Amino acid sequence: MENATVLIVGAGGRENTLAEAYLDSKHVKRVIIAPGNDFIPYSLKERYPDKEIIIEKDCNLKDRDSLLNIAEFYSLDLIDIAPEGPLESGLVDVLEDRGYNVFGPTQKASKIESDKIWSRLFMERHNIPSPLFGFFDDTDKAEKYVEDIYSGKEDSLLYVKASGLCGGKGAIRVENIEEAYTAIKQMKTFGDSGKSFVIEEGIIGEEFSVFAISDGINYKILGWAQDNKTLYDKGKGPNTGGMGCHSPALVASSIMDPIEDNLIAPVIKGMEKEGVPFKGILYLGGMLTKDGVKVIEFNARLGDPEAQVILPGLQCDYYELVQACIKGNLNDFNLKTDGKTRVCVVGAAKGYPDNPIKGCKITGLDDAGIMDDINIYGAGIEVRNNKLYTSGGRVFNIVAEGKDIIDAGKKAYDAIARVDIEGNNLHYRTDIGGSDVDRILA
Ligand code: AMP
Ligand code: GLY
Repeated sequence: MENATVLIVGAGGRENTLAEAYLDSKHVKRVIIAPGNDFIPYSLKERYPDKEIIIEKDCNLKDRDSLLNIAEFYSLDLIDIAPEGPLESGLVDVLEDRGYNVFGPTQKASKIESDKIWSRLFMERHNIPSPLFGFFDDTDKAEKYVEDIYSGKEDSLLYVKASGLCGGKGAIRVENIEEAYTAIKQMKTFGDSGKSFVIEEGIIGEEFSVFAISDGINYKILGWAQDNKTLYDKGKGPNTGGMGCHSPALVASSIMDPIEDNLIAPVIKGMEKEGVPFKGILYLGGMLTKDGVKVIEFNARLGDPEAQVILPGLQCDYYELVQACIKGNLNDFNLKTDGKTRVCVVGAAKGYPDNPIKGCKITGLDDAGIMDDINIYGAGIEVRNNKLYTSGGRVFNIVAEGKDIIDAGKKAYDAIARVDIEGNNLHYRTDIGGSDVDRILA
C-alpha cells in the first residue's frame, strides 16, 4: 500500500472509466482528473468513501502549459495521458524530463497515430498488411495519382486522409474522380493537419479494434471491441467520435493469433528496433477483408467508448499493470480478464456532432445506474445543485455486462430507456452489438 496520487489527463467517458480503474487499486488514495467532467466525482464519491476524487477544470487539453501547471501543483505518483492531442504535443516527454512517472507514448512514438504518412511508411517497412497508398503535399501530384487510378477503373473506392490529427473527421471516402478532386481540395480545410495527406485504396470488410498494452518490448492484449462511428443505425449519417461499442467483437475472436502475429507484434518490435519504443496502449483499427486482416489505422491510446467496455473486464490491479509497463516488467505481469460481454450505448445530445444542444436537464440516469450489471460513465455533463445538465455532444455512456451479446445488449437498452434529456433531446443508436446478435442468431 502506498497511498498513491494519480493524475489522469482527459475529459470524457474513457477518463471516467480510467478513474474507476485506478480507484479500484489498493495502492491509490487520490485520483485527479484534468479537466475531467462533473459526473466523475458525482458518481464515484459514494462508492469510494475513503478515497479522494478531484476534477481540475482549469486547464485546456490544447494548452500543454495549463496541464503542466496542474502536475506541478500536486505531489504525483503517476500521470496517465489518455487523449491523442496531449500525446502529440509531447506532454509525456516534457513530464518525463521533469522527473514524473508517466504512462503514455512519447511524441515520436505517438506518430503512429498523429502522422498518418509516417505510420503507413512504418507499416510498409515492417510488412504489416495495409491498403495500397500514396502520400502527397502537392495537389497536382495527388490529382495525377487519382487520374491514373480512375483511368484504370472508374468506380474505385479510395480514402483521402489528412496526415495529422483531425478529431476523427480527416478521412474522406471517394468513389469517382470528381469526388477525389473535391476531397483533395478539402485537405486544405484541415489546416496544418491537412498540409500533407494520404490517398489509400478503400478496403472492404468488417471492422474491429484491438487494444494492446506495451512496456516498449513486451505487450499484452487488453481486449477487442467493435465501435459504431456513424450517428445513426446501420452505418447511416455523419461520422462521430463513436456512438457505442461492444466487447469482445466476435469477428476478431477466432483470428486473434494472426492479428497478434502479423499486426500487433511487428509494431512493438519494429518501433523498438527503430529506436522509438512504444510504451502505452496501442489501438489497432483493423478490418477483416477477403484477403485477410488489414490495418485501417493505429492509434496511440485507448479508444472512447471502447475503454468503457475493455477496462471493466480486467481482473487485475490497473495501477500495478501500468507501473509494470513503465518499469519494463510487463512480461512478469499476470493479466486476466473476466470473459464477460459488455455493451456500451452512448447517450448523445441532439445536434451532435456539429451543434449539440447544451444546458438541458438529464433525468433517470441515477435510476438506470442502480440496475443490475449496469455502470454509467459521464462525458458532457455538468452538475448544478446536485442536478445533471448536458454540456457536450456525447453526454453519457451506459455499459451493461452479461453472459453474451444478447443478454448484455438487452440490459443496456432497458437501462437507457429510463433516461431522458429535457425537450426530447436524447439521441442514441438502437443497434449497438447488432453485428454479433445477427451472428449468434444465424
Ligand atoms: P479514420 O479517420 O482513419 O479512423 O477513418 C474513419 C473510418 O473510415 C474508418 O473507421 C473506416 O470505416 C473508414 N476507412 C478509413 N480508411 C479506410 C480504408 N483504407 N479502407 C476502408 N475504409 C477506411
Ligand atoms: N472510438 C474511436 C476512437 O477512440 O478513436
